[in-house]
Amino acid sequence: MTKRVAVLISGGGSNMVSLLRDMTGDHPCRPCLVVSNVPDARGLAKATDFAVCTAVVDHTTFAKDRAAFEAELQNVLVTAAPDIICLAGFMRILSAGFTAQWQGRMLNIHPSLLPKYRGLHTHQRALDAGDSHHGCTVHEVTAELDGGPILGQARIAIDDGDTPDTLAAKVLPYEHQLYPAVLRRYAAGDHTPIYLGV
Ligand code: GAR
Repeated sequence: MTKRVAVLISGGGSNMVSLLRDMTGDHPCRPCLVVSNVPDARGLAKATDFAVCTAVVDHTTFAKDRAAFEAELQNVLVTAAPDIICLAGFMRILSAGFTAQWQGRMLNIHPSLLPKYRGLHTHQRALDAGDSHHGCTVHEVTAELDGGPILGQARIAIDDGDTPDTLAAKVLPYEHQLYPAVLRRYAAGDHTPIYLGV
């Protein structure tokens, strides 16, 4: 049976677009909702272009009450009844209580070769460490930030003269390949990691 996928974004939504573009034809999934915590996230209009329903749960209207924000996010998601949730540039940390409700059904893409560089500023941190390689990871979401089981990684070489911006620009096209490939496999029940790149 076709699986319903909700995509959570905070910004431009290029990973979301790569997922939506792939969910056609023989794909085991179809998108049911795109949710943003940022009302003017550019990705919302792109979702509408794909005729996918959108919703906004603006975290700023909940001040510092994360529980209330997550309760509203949960309401919106439960109404859409997704089988799988894809975090795609969703820049809010989700509590253990929230992630537990979707454990085994929520994926995230992160711009580093996890377990290296959980959290922010991953490109700068890879450069500061003098790493020879960098990349991105798709993983299952658990209570541990960027810590769940790895479902795929794409690796690129870091070249002399790379900056955080050039690294981000090199990694992003791999994100766009990796995330749809992982989602297809995951939705079919196969959790074997996918490895792309060098
Ligand atoms: C992507 O590089 C994604 O890996 C990163 O944000 C960017 C979103 O771009 N996610 C994180 O840093 C999550 N910790 P997009 O909105 O164009 O998909």
